Amino acid sequence: MAISDLWYKNAIIYCLPVAKYMDADGDGIGDLDGLARRLDYLAGLGVTCLWLQPFYRSPERDDGYDVADYYAVNEKYGTPGRFVEFMNHARALGLRVIIDLVANHTSDQHPWFQQARRDRHAPTRDWYIWSDQRPPDHEKGIVFPGSQKTTWTYDEEAKQYYFHRFYDFQPDLNTLHPSVRDEITRVMGYWLELGVSGFRMDAVPFLIERKGAGVAHEQDFELLHEMRHFLQWRQGEAILLAEANVPPDESLKYFGDRGDRLQMMLNFPVNQRLFYAMATADLGPLTWALRETYKRPPEAQWVHFLRSHDELDLGRLSPEERQQVFDAFAPDASMQLYNRGIRRRLAAMLGNDRGRLELAFSLLFSLPGTPMMLYGDEIGMGDDLSLPERECARTPMQWTSEPHGGFTRSDRPIQRVIDDRTYGYKAVNVSDQRREHNSLLNWTERIIRMRKECPEISWGDFEVMATSASEILALRYDWRGASLVTLHNFAGRRAKVVFDLKGPGGDLLVDVFNTNGDSHGRGGRHEISLDPYAWRWFRVGSPDNALHRAAQ
Ligand code: GLC
Repeated sequence: MAISDLWYKNAIIYCLPVAKYMDADGDGIGDLDGLARRLDYLAGLGVTCLWLQPFYRSPERDDGYDVADYYAVNEKYGTPGRFVEFMNHARALGLRVIIDLVANHTSDQHPWFQQARRDRHAPTRDWYIWSDQRPPDHEKGIVFPGSQKTTWTYDEEAKQYYFHRFYDFQPDLNTLHPSVRDEITRVMGYWLELGVSGFRMDAVPFLIERKGAGVAHEQDFELLHEMRHFLQWRQGEAILLAEANVPPDESLKYFGDRGDRLQMMLNFPVNQRLFYAMATADLGPLTWALRETYKRPPEAQWVHFLRSHDELDLGRLSPEERQQVFDAFAPDASMQLYNRGIRRRLAAMLGNDRGRLELAFSLLFSLPGTPMMLYGDEIGMGDDLSLPERECARTPMQWTSEPHGGFTRSDRPIQRVIDDRTYGYKAVNVSDQRREHNSLLNWTERIIRMRKECPEISWGDFEVMATSASEILALRYDWRGASLVTLHNFAGRRAKVVFDLKGPGGDLLVDVFNTNGDSHGRGGRHEISLDPYAWRWFRVGSPDNALHRAAQ
């Protein structure tokens, strides 16, 4: 397979909400024109694929994850014409765009639901899930504990209860209904026609679930195959990226044993254990998660991330492990969310410590898979804990030290721009960091450039190496005759690691970032000391991989 065929394998994904990125028309709300003006910035950073969070018509009670019209661009952000112009600009810069597909539920304002609730015989009535009685388990399976009280709510107009996995204004669609399935593919077909390269599929485990009062747990993985089949028929290069926070042994069902379902999944198992490792320097659970998610069909790819627009979900750690992460990164209850996670931004969690931030980003860009970044993390944006729930990490992008961080000309931005001493827009903004050689922004740009030149990471086979140091993660990647080794010291103290490197060229490790960092090891035995939180990437046997790589 040629590298460019499976473009997503070596992609750099960047996720952003249009509303918070850049306001071009001065109404205080980010828009597609504003985003279009920032595409050169994104291309310059080295991003290759944007993930746009929902920008559809919506009452926006869940930041657009409550869709009222899948075919309409929210008027606040632009028009379909502006979307096409934005896509055209992105394409010219070689940037791909994937968009959120929120098909598990609609907004209660969606015309389908409006019609359904008015009339028991309406064609869309059984596109939703109803019950005359409130099922006894209506408090089970709540996704937002503390903010959501039930999964079944009575609707006065419908005179029945309806099921909603998430908030009560997000009635679940009956995705086993053939007409609903047709609608989902129709929506996909529409946006594919406008040039998107695929979809980030929201809430996949719930999407494929048989829903209803008293029904036994059952999932219809065939829906994923149908969607993939449709997608590939319409647009051969497009991908599906699943949000599915499931244990590793379930992931193959989402990829499909033969890679015939979803191409990509966000790697939640690694994500939470990565933060546990950063909190404790105990690498056991992280190593376990990397090994458990090793097996996958050749086309499939994991997407690694540090923070996303949601809380950092630690729900699959043991209570003791979770507590240790809370103690280290979110000691105050106001920093925690839904009894299971952390709602802060990365820089704030790591105390704005540059060394620790670099360690985290170096891991993001070298874990075996495709990296996904959250907007603003490249400059170390902070959070605003006075905002509710997940909103605290969704503040406007900080472009300059001008009023409202250069996000808008309006005096009333959609959300207050962070303005504190450490993380405020006067201290943390793109324009200052552009001018400063060693800024986090320029550092990130450089590491992304190197990452793209290391397809061993995204395409290769990998192994968690056995070494002498328990606090150092040592990964080896092999692909087409070229090998790479990365080391990450999770501890806040200096540590030495000894390991044996088998195979050709094993005597020489060339540090790809640092001219003084090479390691010479007789018989492939290397002894390397790492400063607190230090990290290194080495090519095996040679400073470059092009000459030594086997033919395609
Ligand atoms: C997903 C999204 C989240 C949203 C939820 C309901 O989990 O990531 O932001 O609230 O789905 O659509």
